[in-house]
Amino acid sequence: MSWFKEERKTSFIRTFCNNVIKAGQIPKHVAIIMDGNRRFAKKVKCERSKGHEKGFEKLTEVLEWCFDLGIPEVTVYAFSIENFKRSKEEVDGLMELATQKFDRLMEEKEMIMKHGVCVRALGDLTMLPEELQRSVARVVKYSQNNTKATLNVCLAYTSRHEISNAVKLMAEGVELGLLKASDISESLLEKCLYTSHSPHPDMLIRTSGEVRFSDFLLWQCSYSSLSFLKVLWPEFSVWDFYGAILSFQWNYKAFKDATESCRIKQTQAELDWELQCVLDEMAGVSVSVSNGNGHMPNTRSAFEQNGTTTEEIPLTNGYHGLQTSIHNVEELITK
Ligand code: FPP
Ligand code: MG
Repeated sequence: MSWFKEERKTSFIRTFCNNVIKAGQIPKHVAIIMDGNRRFAKKVKCERSKGHEKGFEKLTEVLEWCFDLGIPEVTVYAFSIENFKRSKEEVDGLMELATQKFDRLMEEKEMIMKHGVCVRALGDLTMLPEELQRSVARVVKYSQNNTKATLNVCLAYTSRHEISNAVKLMAEGVELGLLKASDISESLLEKCLYTSHSPHPDMLIRTSGEVRFSDFLLWQCSYSSLSFLKVLWPEFSVWDFYGAILSFQWNYKAFKDATESCRIKQTQAELDWELQCVLDEMAGVSVSVSNGNGHMPNTRSAFEQNGTTTEEIPLTNGYHGLQTSIHNVEELITK
């Protein structure tokens, strides 16, 4: 099963709906919890693995719907750290499915370039089998400079794991004397998350009728428009999708006000921090991590200023950490 659909004419009704929706605000980033594959398998009396295969097919359809609407970024929850507790047979099956699909994506690499998609993998990739790490790394590396669209696939991911990693990273900075405890802020923590390169999702869709986050993007979805839908993931239809987008558009003003007030609060905190630095400097106190341009330090400048290169300390276990894990798997690729 290919990631890309053959080019075919969109029906009149779909084109009409797409145009109506495009007249409103289009989300810049959609996050999806693809839930209900096993219940679907049970419902249609097939193997669990078939349910997950159907789930993958649905993902390719949804990506096409997003592409048609001009949604530039999608993040999907493909495998949670909690999912490792499932039976060995199911976990092995899911790992094999993901490996096959990433290999298939690499076989279709001209389509990755044609669509300009940057594929990222978010999570603690070291928990995955080496073969999958290798397949993921090939695609991530191949597509890393694409800028038209982004697909983030969360694998071996949970939000609490991501946040505690970010906190550990900052603590390490403090322990090494590269940061002061007072440098720790919301914006610095954000820069240490796997998603540091992405805007927060404008909307989150979860299928299957479960109304919970299941440890997915807890930090990033604080202000997102939430759509919990009763449909099982393999049965998710374009009409369900349009409904979720319309609900986002309907709530857009509240969403925008909330994100804007959060942004103002963060900017204010940064300004307060800068003011404090200036006051400290005037009082003759050395400011160990100020980057000298009056800007809030990010993890990179904070670490680099002290002569520590990004190679020595992975700045986040997400993006930069992934680069590190790519370095490791690169050896495997060339083996
Ligand atoms: C949740 O349904 C689904 C998963 C844990 C796996 C999702 C994976 C895919 C759709 C394949 C993705 C593959 C790639 C390469 C991105 P569930 O198993 O929790 O079903 P249930 O809620 O009915 O028990
Ligand atoms: Mg489930």
